[in-house]
Amino acid sequence: MELIKKEITLKKYSSIDDLSSEEKNLLIKAREAIKTAYAPYSKFHVGCAVLLQNDEIVLGSNQENSAYPSGLCAERVAIFSAGANFPNQAVKMMAITAQSDDYPVTRPIASCGACLQSISEYEMKFNSPIQFILQGENGDIYTAESVKSFLPFTFFLNELKK
Ligand code: THU
Repeated sequence: MELIKKEITLKKYSSIDDLSSEEKNLLIKAREAIKTAYAPYSKFHVGCAVLLQNDEIVLGSNQENSAYPSGLCAERVAIFSAGANFPNQAVKMMAITAQSDDYPVTRPIASCGACLQSISEYEMKFNSPIQFILQGENGDIYTAESVKSFLPFTFFLNELKK
């Protein structure tokens, strides 16, 4: 028997002013994206901003539906939109933030497993890590160097090949 250990390292910042100007700008864009969320059921509004290699920023927000599972998280709305509109641009960075109608979101929110799997596909497509910036509506900010920090064992394209 052998133990397999995967370490994850996140950086924690207490102020947006401690981020690089590129990171700070992207987090502000994610905050703006919250305003376009359609979340009448959960009342939990998520904004996501995706920075591409060509410096384009693509925004996404969660879009819910009365047939609940038909809705989509902000991260997948954003990354699929980036993939559809800029298919040849590697993804450099993603910022994600959230706000609730019911309570203050004072901690960063982690992306769900389905979003992480979807995002990891784009890391593999371009063979280039995607940096993460996470924050609630205020409070600490977490950054990570790659989606692998949150999903170390992603399902990989090669598994589909014989
Ligand atoms: N949601 C996101 O958009 N991103 C996440 O990382 C977690 C959850 C959305 C889905 C749903 O519209 C609402 O938040 C509550 O789960």
